[in-house]
Amino acid sequence: MKYKSKNYLIENFKVNFLAEKFKTPLYCYSYKKIRDNIETFKKIFKSVNPIICFAVKANPNRKILNEIGNMGLGADVVSIGELMKAIKSGIRPNKIVFSGVGKTYDEIKYAIQKKILLINAESKSEIITIEKIAKNYKIKVNIGIRLNPNTDAKTIKQISTGKKENKFGVSEKIFLNLTNYVINSKYLNLKCLSVHIGSQILEIKPFEKMLKTLDKVINKTKFNFEYIDLGGGIGIDYENNNKNLDLKKYAIYIKKFLKGKKSKIIFEPGRSIVGNSGVLISKIIYIKEGYKKNFIILDAAMNDLMRPALYNARHRIIPAVKNNLKSNKVYEFVGPICESTDKFSTLSKFQKLNEKDLVVICDVGAYGMSLSSNYNLRPKVAEILIKNSKMHIMSKRQNLKDLI
Ligand code: LLP
Repeated sequence: MKYKSKNYLIENFKVNFLAEKFKTPLYCYSYKKIRDNIETFKKIFKSVNPIICFAVKANPNRKILNEIGNMGLGADVVSIGELMKAIKSGIRPNKIVFSGVGKTYDEIKYAIQKKILLINAESKSEIITIEKIAKNYKIKVNIGIRLNPNTDAKTIKQISTGKKENKFGVSEKIFLNLTNYVINSKYLNLKCLSVHIGSQILEIKPFEKMLKTLDKVINKTKFNFEYIDLGGGIGIDYENNNKNLDLKKYAIYIKKFLKGKKSKIIFEPGRSIVGNSGVLISKIIYIKEGYKKNFIILDAAMNDLMRPALYNARHRIIPAVKNNLKSNKVYEFVGPICESTDKFSTLSKFQKLNEKDLVVICDVGAYGMSLSSNYNLRPKVAEILIKNSKMHIMSKRQNLKDLI
């Protein structure tokens, strides 16, 4: 994705051509970016040789899951819907792990029937439910137990999951008790210790601390875990200022952690695989003068991209066509929804904009479409993928008639 003279291109297609053809707002992804991200991930962690389970919640589009599956990845799912979709997209059940604090009886039953790789349990009650179902089927089910390592991920508060006040995983004390319980169960096979301390993590320290805690807890269990599932959480560079997490260091820490253990590492990356692969193309409906700034009213809104409203996240916004005319106005990019949080960014250095101009909202491939809704009765937008110089419609724009 880059400018070629004045035009912004997604692979070889001009954004204004795509907008004309598919209308706006429009999610557009680059296959090449996804492939590059996966190759880079595999290369960095080559010495660890992990099982990589893509976190489906980041982007559950079937075509994307299918492509990711073709590149050898498994899936991390958190609901029966995600599990069914991952399987339908061609991901083999023996490469699927199931996370989440509130898996229901039916969800667990389905996962057991499908013989997935692991159910990562998060409480004693859940373990007892899994055991009950396993007993009914007279089989032994493979499970993991998620530890809450009480590690500060130093990320956005709302997406931090590894501190003791968070609902995720169990404390060290309960973990040790549950480990004992599962080892002695006729119907459960303890396979994994799992952990996930948060998302959009940009510092290495929290991961280092987390590994130290795991080491300590594993020593106390004296149990040989076949898998250690380190979750996801690797952050991406939304600001484009090269402040990326030092993943090579993370790989070195993991290698060190694995010394003397026979465990296989599982990762559950979401954002780092698809985050920078997608953009949201939007058209300016109106430009309105405010008291101190001009409002750029886009046809995309918080229902299409929730992250700014939900976490105060800032996604870069760039023009689809550069005009080299500087504006001296402050622009606030907003959507048409009747909420003041329906705004994407306030920028003071932007080119001069006109109504009907197109803009590109960057790095929305993860938790963009997956968090979208029909709020204000707005149809969900279309998603397209550019692959090998061809355009594929991955999901159609929702039909207004169906919503009404
Ligand atoms: N594994 C588990 C158990 C998770 O809960 C998550 C994300 C992941 C893996 C994937 O994490 P990633 O590699 O994508 O950081 N909606 C928020 C992010 C919420 C993440 C929830 N869990 C956002 O838009 O920033």
